[in-house]
Parts: sequence; structure tokens; C-alpha cells
Amino acid sequence: MTEQVTINDVGPRDGLQNQKKVLSPEQRVSLVHALLAASVKHIEIAAFVSPKAVPAMAGAAEIVAALEGESADLAVLIPNEKGYDLATAAGAQSVTTVLYGTDEMAQANVRMTMAEADAATVAILERARADGVECTATISVAFECPFAGPVDPEVIWDSAERFLALGVDRYVVADTIGAANPAQTRTLMETLVKRHGAERLACHFHDTRAMGLANVYAAASAGIRRFDASIGGLGGCPFAPGASGNVATEDVVMMLEQMGFQTGVDLPALMRASALAQELTGTAPGGRARAWLERNVAA
Ligand code: COA
Ligand code: ZN
Repeated sequence: MTEQVTINDVGPRDGLQNQKKVLSPEQRVSLVHALLAASVKHIEIAAFVSPKAVPAMAGAAEIVAALEGESADLAVLIPNEKGYDLATAAGAQSVTTVLYGTDEMAQANVRMTMAEADAATVAILERARADGVECTATISVAFECPFAGPVDPEVIWDSAERFLALGVDRYVVADTIGAANPAQTRTLMETLVKRHGAERLACHFHDTRAMGLANVYAAASAGIRRFDASIGGLGGCPFAPGASGNVATEDVVMMLEQMGFQTGVDLPALMRASALAQELTGTAPGGRARAWLERNVAA
């Protein structure tokens, strides 16, 4: 029996938030359409954050409205309850909140402590459950923080236990700055899978040290069956110095499919989405397998 892996493309959010060239909502919607055309069924389409803090994410409500009725899980990132108010008023059905592995990262990103960010997610989750809105919690800097250094795995164990018990639909372990190595990833994810099962767990890797795909492999070996990735390898956090792009969706799909997993994603159409990401931004590097994919997968 073929095992399924779920791909969540975070390119339109994580991928674009840090671009020098700010794309219009229409351009960002066109990228989401290209991903939908490649049968990517889970996409993070926008962020309801302060446009002063992240100008590239302005216009989130327009994006949600333009994509209303698409049969896919289209999530939006929110940093606080105000984000929840704006997102749900715009019609969002799925929200992603952010937890932090360190106080330093929480301060840099949202001017909160870890405890305040935890409390924001607890409050949002309660409202989301009452409203029938899906709620994913992503823990940022789960391995290493650009300000405070390595993160003790116990912090992540404790956070995952609390938020899974509270009923988040998904708990995503994020290597925000791309510092994890595959041995660490495997150990951490094996522990979490043993304690909680893999059903509601996912991973999010950046490719700063060229270990993005190796980390996906390590997490998959630990039983993880859902990954964030970013079309064309776009990405990076404006408030986490040194963070480079996410692991590229086309690389992740290629590797997992070649390993015998089923992602449901149409790779030739995904290459067209990657080409569009490059055309729109001028900076998307494409996957590490770009040259091979361009020769072997019809775009
Ligand atoms: N969406 C839009 N605007 C928001 C907002 C949200 N979710 N939350 C707060 N704001 C607005 C406030 O209304 C206020 O607007 P005003 O200046 O016109 O009055 C302004 O942002 C500042 O609000 P304040 O509560 O003082 O927050 P802050 O200045 O401490 O900033 C955040 C906190 C969370 C709003 C801001 O740091 C942020 O948006 N960060 C997101 C970072 C991010 O996206 N990182 C990458 C993804 S992980
Ligand atoms: Zn990220």
C-alpha cells in the first residue's frame, strides 16, 4: 500500500514575506492558482500581520476573498487575536498561529514573551473551535534561535504536549533559520511521534545549511507524513537574521515520490508554479534539483 504524504506549500506566505520586491495581492493569488493547478491541496496563502511590520503581506483580506470557494485547505498566518478577527472577518477557514522556542525570537517577531505567545494561541484556539475554524500551531525556532542559540528539546516536548492536549488540529515543528541536522531532527520527531502519534504532527524546514531535504528524510523516517515547503525555495523570516529559503516544494515532492510515497502533487504543473514564482520575484532560486527537474520533468 502506498503511503500518503501531505504537502503544505507556504510559499505565498513564508516565501514572499521577506522579498524586497513586494507583490500585489493579484500576483500572489496567481501563484496560489498555479499551486492549486498542480493539485497542492494545502497552501498558506497570506498573513494577517501588521502591514507596518511586514509590508509584503498587505492585502491579505483581498487574497482570502479572491480564493473563496476553492476546494483546498487555504490557511492564513496570524500573530495575535487581532489577526484572528481580521482573518475570520475576511472569511478565512483555517488559521496558523505561531509559538516560540525562545523569548528572544518571540520578542523579535511579535514583541511578546513565549508565555504571551502561548496565551495568544490558547485564546485563538478557543475561538477557532467555537467558530469551526481549523487551527494549526507552528513552533518557531524549534531547534536553534538566531539570538539565543540552541533550544532544549524539552521546551518543544512540553509545548507539543500542551497544545496537542488543548486540541490544535496540527502542531508544526519549524526550523525557522535552517539550523537543524538530520540526526537531531530524527531524535526530536521520533520522541514526539512515540508520545503523540504522527497524525497531527508536521515539520517545516529551511535550507540555510543545505540540510533541508535531509531533514525531511529524517522526519519522514521518524514517521512524519506532513511537510511545509515553499515553491521555488522561496522564503525567510524578516525577523530572523540569516534565515534563507524554505526547502523547495518541487525537491520535496520529487524526493518523496521517488521514495515511493504519494503526495498527490502534479510535478510538471508544480514546475510551472516554480517558474511563475521565479518570474514574479526574480529571486526564487528553484529547487536544488532544478537542472535535473527542468531536463526530466516537462514544464
Ligand atoms: N494585523 C494587522 N495589524 C495589526 C495586527 C494584525 N494581526 N496586530 C496589531 N496590528 C496593528 C495595530 O492595530 C497597530 O496599528 P496602528 O499603529 O495603526 O495603531 C499596530 O499594528 C501596532 O500594534 P501593537 O499592538 O502595538 O503591536 P506591535 O507594534 O508590538 O507589533 C505585531 C506587534 C504582532 C502586530 C507585529 O510585530 C507583527 O505584525 N508581527 C508579525 C511578524 C511576522 O509576520 N513575522 C513573520 C512570520 S512568523
Ligand atoms: Zn519558515
